[in-house]
Amino acid sequence: QNNVAVGLLGVGVVGSGVINLIEKHQEKLAHQLGCGVYVKSALVRNPDKARDIGADMNGTQLTADPDAVLGDPEIDVVVEVMGGIEEAREAILKAFAAKKHVVTANKDLVALHGGELHEAAERNKCDLYYEASVAGGIPILRGITDGFASDHIEQLMGIVNGTTNYIMTKMSQEGLSYEAALKQAQERGFAEADPASDVEGLDAARKMAILGRLAFSTYINLEDVEVTGIKDVDPKDLEYGDSLGLTMKLIGFADFDGTQVEINVQPALISKDHPLAGVKNEYNAVYVYGEAVGEAMFYGAGAGSMPTAAAVMSDVVAVIKNMHRGVTGSQFVEPRFEKQLKEPEQ
Ligand code: HSE
Repeated sequence: QNNVAVGLLGVGVVGSGVINLIEKHQEKLAHQLGCGVYVKSALVRNPDKARDIGADMNGTQLTADPDAVLGDPEIDVVVEVMGGIEEAREAILKAFAAKKHVVTANKDLVALHGGELHEAAERNKCDLYYEASVAGGIPILRGITDGFASDHIEQLMGIVNGTTNYIMTKMSQEGLSYEAALKQAQERGFAEADPASDVEGLDAARKMAILGRLAFSTYINLEDVEVTGIKDVDPKDLEYGDSLGLTMKLIGFADFDGTQVEINVQPALISKDHPLAGVKNEYNAVYVYGEAVGEAMFYGAGAGSMPTAAAVMSDVVAVIKNMHRGVTGSQFVEPRFEKQLKEPEQ
C-alpha cells in the first residue's frame, strides 16, 4: 500500500501530540496498516515562528495558507485540531468538497454543526470521525457505538469536564477556594481559554449532546441539554454532602426510556459508593447502563496532548483501514428515533 499523507490543521497542544505519536509509533502503525503515515503539511498562523514540538518534523511543511493543505491532491486525510467554530467548519467543508476524509477533535463544532458535517461527508462519500471530541483519550464514542452495538443503552452518566472536576475535588478534599482551584486548573492547561464554558457547564453540555446522539440514535441539539454550572456551589454544600456519605460532582446525565430523552448537566450529590464518586482531579469518566451489558464505566484522561492525540490517531487508523477496504465510515448513527424530550421536573 502507498504511504498515506495527512494534512494537519493546527499545530497546538493536540497537533504536536499527533506529530509525536506518529513518529513514536510508526512501526506499530505500519504493521497494522501495511503502509506508512506521515504529516505532509500543517496549517499554522505563523510558519516562521520557532517551535519545539518535542519531535522531528520529518519534512512536514508548515503553511499559513489553508489551500496548501486542502487543495493538495496527495493528502487523503485532514486532521482538524485548530479549534474554534467558523474557520474550522469552513475548512472541513472544503476538505469534503475536495474528497478528503476528516478527523476532528472539535467538540464545539461537532456539538453545534454535527448534522451539517455528516451530510457533507456523506454527499462526498468521505469519512468523518471525532473520537477526541469527548473525554480526550478515553475511547468512549467507539465504546458506545461499537461496544454497545447490539445493546440498548438506557442511561449515561458522565464526568466529562476535567476543569470542574478538578475544582470540586480540590475544594472538597483540600479546602481550596473556588478561585484558587480554578487558577490551578488554568495553570495546568486543561481549562478552556475562556473558563466560563467549563464552570458554566457548557463544555460538558456539548460533550453530552454528542454522547446522547450516539448512544440513543436520536438528534439531540445543544439547546436540549439543561445546564447548571458550578459557580454557585457553596463549600458548605460539599461539607454537608460529605457528612451524609455523598460527594458532589458536575454530572452529565442522559436517560432514554425508549420514548423520551432526559438530558442535563448539573452539580449533583452522589453516593460515595457510586463508581463515579472515585473519579478525582481532572480525570473524566462515563458510566453507561446497557440493557444487556448492565453497568460499564470508561475512565481516563479527558484532555492533554498525548491522550487526545491518541484518540485522534485512532480515528486516522480507522479512516485508513476504510480506505484500504474501499468503504466509507463515520461515527454517525442514522437516527432511529424521533426526539421527544422529557419535561424537567420543577
Ligand atoms: N476544558 C476541557 C476540560 C478540556 O476541562 O475537560 C477538554 O475538553
